[in-house]
Amino acid sequence: MSKVKVLFLPDQVTVEVEQGTSLLKAAAVAGISIKSTCGGAGTCGKCLVQVKEGEVRVDSTRNLSPAQQKQGMVLGCQAFAISDVTVEVPADSRLRRHQVLIGELEQPDLGDFPFEPLLRTVTLDLTPPTLDDITVDSQRLLAALAVQGYQPVHLPLRLLQRLPEDLRTAMWKVDVIMSLTDCGWQVIAVEPNNPGKERFGLAVDIGTTTVVVSLHNLANGQTVARAGTYNLQAQYGDDVISRMIHATENKDGLTELQQAVVKTINDLIRQIEKETQINREDIYGLVAAGNTTMSQLFLGISPKYIRLEPYIPTISSVAAVDAAEIGVKIHPRGMVYLIPSVASYVGGDITAGVLATRLTDAEEITLFIDIGTNGEMVLGNRDWLVTCACSAGPAFEGGGITFGMRAMEGAIERVKIDSSTGEIEYKTVQDAKPIGICGSGLIELLGQLRRAGLIDRTGKFTDQVQTDRLRERDGEKEYVLAWAKDSGSGKDIVITESDIKNLIRSKGAVYAGVRSLLRAVDLPLEAIDRIFIAGGFGHYLSIPEAVEIGLLPDVERDKYAYVGNTSLKGAQLALLSVSAWHRARQIGEMMTYIELSAGNTFMDEYVSALFLPHTDLTQFPSVK
Ligand code: FES
Repeated sequence: MSKVKVLFLPDQVTVEVEQGTSLLKAAAVAGISIKSTCGGAGTCGKCLVQVKEGEVRVDSTRNLSPAQQKQGMVLGCQAFAISDVTVEVPADSRLRRHQVLIGELEQPDLGDFPFEPLLRTVTLDLTPPTLDDITVDSQRLLAALAVQGYQPVHLPLRLLQRLPEDLRTAMWKVDVIMSLTDCGWQVIAVEPNNPGKERFGLAVDIGTTTVVVSLHNLANGQTVARAGTYNLQAQYGDDVISRMIHATENKDGLTELQQAVVKTINDLIRQIEKETQINREDIYGLVAAGNTTMSQLFLGISPKYIRLEPYIPTISSVAAVDAAEIGVKIHPRGMVYLIPSVASYVGGDITAGVLATRLTDAEEITLFIDIGTNGEMVLGNRDWLVTCACSAGPAFEGGGITFGMRAMEGAIERVKIDSSTGEIEYKTVQDAKPIGICGSGLIELLGQLRRAGLIDRTGKFTDQVQTDRLRERDGEKEYVLAWAKDSGSGKDIVITESDIKNLIRSKGAVYAGVRSLLRAVDLPLEAIDRIFIAGGFGHYLSIPEAVEIGLLPDVERDKYAYVGNTSLKGAQLALLSVSAWHRARQIGEMMTYIELSAGNTFMDEYVSALFLPHTDLTQFPSVK
């Protein structure tokens, strides 16, 4: 097939692709990340680009107004290059990078776990061989390690190939860097002894939306850097299902997704290198936690059977793998560990969450909920754990909401509505001009709209409050949160009735998941002693408002705690303590997975939860 050139503006990047390639795909080849919520299905309208010159074949103009079409605007996923073309990518269509809220440079709290990193340095002062002592090099090394308590130890071939020179160059006084594997210890490197040299390990939270890393000194566990950005896989779809479809239904889909997440991590490592002057080759390994699909994609394993009934993943727990084998750029012989998954939709991020919150240390019955695209939850204590996942949709991460966005600069994160005037006060992340609304803002907004009487219990706008902010556009009612003159984008920021329906569906799914889990173990709501909420809500989540809309159960508010990014915290613990690593594996094996699609319980609960707060008000006695 013949090739065509695509020039992207204002980047001035040209790529050569096969004729008939979509502009969205060409942009990915050019390293330009375009929003693609629907994964290229042509339904979300986010991948808007402008064709300045050249011929394209347009398969669908859905979501495009006649005026936009006249200006040459096309959906990148529905426009295919026929000749050489020049394409302008507007700022609004780009995935914003380096704007993830990553929080403070917190030090990991190991608690009772002893500091004993998965990757460690052992210094050996070996006796050089003589004609009277002709022990071979490898045995000399292994014997010295055994004296220090390291046994069995594996010396991989790639290390043996350089061992004679490494030992002699170091004059037999060496730092041996080792990593724990399923078969004991494995030597990663033999370096000349250097007491001043610092070595590092990385903890990684591979989220569907964002990737956050923290770098730790392996000598003392101190966090020395932290960075976060969007998962570059987002250019192939916002949610896990679109990624699975891309991986399994496109020829190069799996490779593209694997390389996208690895590039995301490598870019973060490069960013840390610049900020700290630490060399990537001094990072000897990483521990990653992610949902099951993210974990498999990271390793280049197809998620095909996760998606198909009976929903079977390929891996739960994997032995350490070579970082170089999957393209992660740290020490050339560095190792990668993954926190084990439990089932197709309960991954290592949840195992890490249970580990980080010490849920299995306590007698109290605890409910752990991670609210993301999937509402994943775990119920139990030190004796038992049950878990399930419900498809909440991406609404609380801003997906499927007209002005929805992640918690980043300019996102409305808190709102208050005056019920007599219908006027709104809001607070944005970093007090910037508003450009959209994030999960915590949406939860408050829904509660406030209902309390002010602007919407009824089904989520429909009412005429109870007279305000200019309530209006109809293109046959749909909407409420204006911020007028164009006050917004950072020059557009009115609104919430529509369809947005509210999406939010109600999402909150209904999470609540139905909680009820289904309780029913599976035949426990009443009152049996729960503590509720831990994890998820990417940024700085703030209002538990009272979340109860008010029926997202979370109506129990005493002091039972609730917001625990933040426990996926990263769990990965940090596993990196810095072999005991925590073993505990993570035990937790993975201990959890009993409840498949919600089997039986009618979940669907019955879900339908009942599609009201504000619920059809059965006795379940929400404190909500007026
Ligand atoms: Fe193109 Fe969604 S419409 S990615």
